[in-house]
Amino acid sequence: MKTSLNPKFDQKVDSILSLMTLEEKIGQMNQYNGFWEVTGPAPEGGDAAIKYEQLRKGLVGSMLNVNGVENVRAVQKIAVEETRLGIPLIIGYDVIHGYKTLSPIPLAESASWDLDAIRKSSEVAAAEAAAAGINWTFAPMVDITRDARWGRVMEGAGEDPYLGSKIAYARVKGFQGDDLSAINTIAASAKHFAAYGFSESGRDYNTVDIGTSTLYNLVLPPFQATVDADVKTFMNSFNVLNGIPATGNSFLQRDILKGKWNYKGFVVSDWGSIGEMIPHGFAKDGKQAAELAANAGSDMDMESRLYVEHLAALVKEGKVKESVIDDAVRRILTVKYELGLFDDPYKYCDEAREKAETGKPAFHEAVLDMAKKSIVLLKNENQLLPLKKEGLKIALIGQLAADKDSPLGSWRALGESNSAVSVLEGLQKYNGNNLRFEQGVRLTDETPVFIKETKINTTDRTGFEAAKTEARRADVVVMVLGEHGFQSGEGRSRTQLDLPGLQQELLEEVYKINKNIVLVLMNGRPLVIDWAANHIPAIVEAWHLGTESGNAIAQVLYGDYNPSGKLPMSFPKTVGQVPIYYNHNSTGRPGNPGGDIVFWSHYMDAPNEPQFPFGFGLSYTTFAYSNLKLNSDSFAKTGSIKVSVDLSNTGNYAGKETVQLYIHDLYASVTRPVRELKDFQQIELQPGETKTLVFTIDEKTIGFYDNDGKWVVEPGDFKVFIGGSSQADLEAEFKYNDK
Ligand code: BGC
Repeated sequence: MKTSLNPKFDQKVDSILSLMTLEEKIGQMNQYNGFWEVTGPAPEGGDAAIKYEQLRKGLVGSMLNVNGVENVRAVQKIAVEETRLGIPLIIGYDVIHGYKTLSPIPLAESASWDLDAIRKSSEVAAAEAAAAGINWTFAPMVDITRDARWGRVMEGAGEDPYLGSKIAYARVKGFQGDDLSAINTIAASAKHFAAYGFSESGRDYNTVDIGTSTLYNLVLPPFQATVDADVKTFMNSFNVLNGIPATGNSFLQRDILKGKWNYKGFVVSDWGSIGEMIPHGFAKDGKQAAELAANAGSDMDMESRLYVEHLAALVKEGKVKESVIDDAVRRILTVKYELGLFDDPYKYCDEAREKAETGKPAFHEAVLDMAKKSIVLLKNENQLLPLKKEGLKIALIGQLAADKDSPLGSWRALGESNSAVSVLEGLQKYNGNNLRFEQGVRLTDETPVFIKETKINTTDRTGFEAAKTEARRADVVVMVLGEHGFQSGEGRSRTQLDLPGLQQELLEEVYKINKNIVLVLMNGRPLVIDWAANHIPAIVEAWHLGTESGNAIAQVLYGDYNPSGKLPMSFPKTVGQVPIYYNHNSTGRPGNPGGDIVFWSHYMDAPNEPQFPFGFGLSYTTFAYSNLKLNSDSFAKTGSIKVSVDLSNTGNYAGKETVQLYIHDLYASVTRPVRELKDFQQIELQPGETKTLVFTIDEKTIGFYDNDGKWVVEPGDFKVFIGGSSQADLEAEFKYNDK
C-alpha cells in the first residue's frame, strides 16, 4: 500500500507519521465546518465546545467555511501552537467562481470555450481566496450534466466530455498554478466523484443509474483530465453507482482513482456523505459507515464526525487496517507539505496582503473580460443588435434588470449581497440614448438567500401597466428575464424550465405593444423559451455573470464587444425532451420512415431537436464555412489525417468564431454517439477575411472506452463534421485500419 506520493516530502511525512498516535492520525482525516466565532471567546458547552476541544487535541485536520485572515489565523494558531504535534490545518472553502470578486457561474464561463480565459478566472479566484487565508477550494465541479432540471448544472461545464475535460484541466491549472507553494495558488478538488451529474429526473441527491459505457466515456474523462493536471484532491459524491454510494465505493476510489489512475492526492467526502450511507440503506449505523468509507478510500470525513468517533475502535477490532489510516494521512500531510503549510502555517494569513488583494482592479478587469466572453447571442433578427449609441428611446423592463444580487449567482463565496453591477447601471454608462426603467414584474418579494427556498411571485401584476406605457413610447425594449441568483445551484431542482412567475405573461403583453424586443436572459441553466424563440427578434443569453455582469451585458448590447459564446448545453424546446443532448446514440429507429407511420424514435407532440443545440451561438457578424478537405481518406495505426476548412467573415464586424470538429464512428463493438466533439479552435477574423484552419485526426480522435474500461481503437468508417455548432453541416468520410 505504501507508495511514494511526492519524493520531495515522503520522508518528512513518514517521520511525522511515526510520531503520531492513532487518534492523532484519525484527527487528520477529520474536517469540521467553522464552529465558533473564532475571534471571540472559546465556546462553552454543546457541539461547538466539543469540536473546539478536539481541535486543541489535534483531532481536526481541516476546516471549511472559516474565512478571512483573522479567523483563519485564530484556528491555525490553535492547531499549530496548542496541539501536541503542531500540524497545520488545511482550510477549505467553496471558491467556485470567485471569492469576493465574482466571475460568471462555471456553466456561463464554459460558454466562452476560451480555455485561457477560464484558467485566468480560476487564477483570480485562487489569488483572492489565498490572500484571505484559504488554501483549498472545493472546485472544479467536473460532473457532466444533461438534465437542466438539476440545479447544479450551473456549477459545471455542461454536457460534453471533451469540452468538459479541457475546461476541467484549465480550472485545476488556474487554481493550483505551476507551483502550489506559491502565495497566490490553492489546492483544487475535482468533484463529485462520480456520476452525480446523472441524478435521476434532475432531482438533487437522487439515485444515479447509468450504464458502463456512459461511465467510462462520459463521466470519468473529465476527472481523468484533472488527474493529468495534478489536482491535489478529489471529493466524492452523494449518489450511488450501481447501488453503492460513491463514498463507500471501492471500485471508484480504490480501483479506478488510486489504482488505475495511480492518483497521489487525497479524497474528501462530500458534506456528511459518510453518514448518509445509513439512510441510503448501505450501512446499518455510523460505525459501519465509517468502516465502509475508510476501506473504500475516502480519506477525509467532511462534517459527519464518524471517523473521529469510530475509526480508532474499528482499527482495534481489525475492521480497518492501520495501513489504511496511514495511507490516508500520508496523502493529507503530503498536500499540506506541498502547499508549504509546514514551512509557514500562517503564509496565507497576512492582513496587509488581504487588504491589498481583495477586490483589486485587476480582478475586476479579469471577471469583466470573462463575463463578456460568456455571453451567447441566440437570435438577432433584422440586426436589432447592436443598439445604436445615440437617439434611441429604450425601455428597460424586468426586476432582474435592476437586480444587483442575482447576477452573483449561486455559490458566491464571500461575494457581498447586492454587489453586482446591474444591467440598468451598465446601460446607464452609455448616455447617448433616452433610457427608462420599469420593473414591470416582481420575480420575488424578498432577496433570495443560499439556504432557503424563495417564493416566486405569481400574482402581482401591478407593474404591468407602467411597463407597457414605457414599451409604447420606446424604439427598443430591453427585457431582462430569467431566474434569480439562487434559483439554480445545490438543492435547486425544477420540473419546469420556463421563465418563472409572471415573466412570460409580461413578455407576451409587451410584445403586443412593441415587437422590437431584446430579451436578455439571466439564468443558471438552460431554459425552455420556445415562445420567445419564435417571436422575439433578439435573444441574448447572459446567465449569472458575476460582479461585472451589467457592464458586460451593456458592452455586448452596444456592440463594444461582439458576442462569441457557444452553448455548452442544449436548450430544450420543452421540458419533456429532457435529458436532451447532442451526443446521443442513434437507436435502431432513428429516422422517420415517411408518411404518417409512428414506429420510429420520436415524440408525437414535439420534435426530437432542441431549441438551440450544443455549440450554438451567433455573432454580430456572419461566418461561412467552405472547402472541407482531407489530405487522405484513410489512415492506419499511428498515422493521422489532416482536415482543413476555410472560414470567412462574411458580415460587417470583426468577430471571433469557435470552429468545432465532430466525428461519427459509424459502427463499433459498442455503439457510438451520432456526433462527438473532438477538437475546436477559436479564431478572430476581420470583415471580408478568410482563413484556413487545419485539424489533425488520429487514434486519440477515434478511440473510445469499451465496457471493461479499456481504451480501444477499432478499424472502421467514420464521418467528420466541421462547423459552428453541433449541427455543423460540412462533412467528409474517412477510414481507419489498425494495420
Ligand atoms: C456540496 C459540495 C460542497 C460541500 C461543502 C456539499 O453540499 O455537494 O459540492 O463542496 O457541500 O460546502
